[in-house]
Amino acid sequence: MNDDAVVSLHGVSFAYEDGPAVLSDFDFAIGAGRALALLGRNGSGKTTLMRLLSGGLRPRTGHLALEGKPVTYDRAGLTRLRTSVQLVLQDPDDQLFAASVAQDVSFGPLNLGLPPAEVADRVARALAALGITDLAERPTHLLSYGQRKRAAIAGAVALRPRLLVLDEPTAGLDPEGQEQLLDTLAGLRAGGTTVMMATHDVDLALRWADDAALLTPSGVRLGAAPDTLARGDLLEQAGLRPAWGIAASRLLRAQNLLDREAPGPRTASELDTYTALVRGAQAAE
Ligand SMILES: Nc1ncnc2c1ncn2[C@@H]1O[C@H](COP(=O)(O)OP(=O)(O)OP(=O)(O)O)[C@@H](O)[C@H]1O
Ligand SMILES: [Mg+2]
Repeated sequence: MNDDAVVSLHGVSFAYEDGPAVLSDFDFAIGAGRALALLGRNGSGKTTLMRLLSGGLRPRTGHLALEGKPVTYDRAGLTRLRTSVQLVLQDPDDQLFAASVAQDVSFGPLNLGLPPAEVADRVARALAALGITDLAERPTHLLSYGQRKRAAIAGAVALRPRLLVLDEPTAGLDPEGQEQLLDTLAGLRAGGTTVMMATHDVDLALRWADDAALLTPSGVRLGAAPDTLARGDLLEQAGLRPAWGIAASRLLRAQNLLDREAPGPRTASELDTYTALVRGAQAAE
């Protein structure tokens, strides 16, 4: 499997107590520096997988490896894992616990034993990155859902993990909040952070991810996002609708306006750039 994986699961099976098997003989890896989108229907195991990768759940069989070395679930092993991998939970109310936003975001860096000036700097940067600087002193329970979501993400960003694992981070964000988050993630990735996000949004996955992992009843399908998301059979198994970018690319290719190997449009504004080509082709007919 992937030699430069940040974390990987090897032959992992997992079931909750008294629950059905969620993952069986499961292999998975996320390569260093990649952006990976995790998709699958409600209850398919996205959150479970993310909790296994970040050490909150422990495989029944098989093992989790961090940078190729099996993780041990003692204090030292979990500390090593948690300084490398940070999970932001699906529901911000499960994540936030301190009285104010700034206190919440500073908790992790303080816990790492960083000097106060470094903590203050990290908190300020994380709040700015999520566009919530003006909410620093607000009690977390008085924030709107999207604001709490941003605060929870800021808390993980302040820890500067090698791998940031985000469970449906865009759910509940307004369009501007989503763009801000994508900008923040782009900045983190430029700095070498690997990012994985669970989402139900195929268009977002196509636009953002290098790799897409689809959880289907017959197992996980992991590959380059434009390839995986173009597989109608897999999308159907995973309960997903086709991405419009894939359909637009097919149309452009059928019209000879896009080379077979060239990446197609992934956003509405990228699609717009083809308008002149379409007009040109029509004029030439
Ligand atoms: N704490 C728990 N105890 C028992 N069963 C659980 C628990 N959490 C999840 N499950 C079950 O495990 C399966 C996978 O759930 P999981 O939360 O990983 O799915 P998901 O893909 O994240 O779904 P969603 O899209 O709704 O967030 C489901 O069948 C769910 O009912
Ligand atoms: Mg979930």
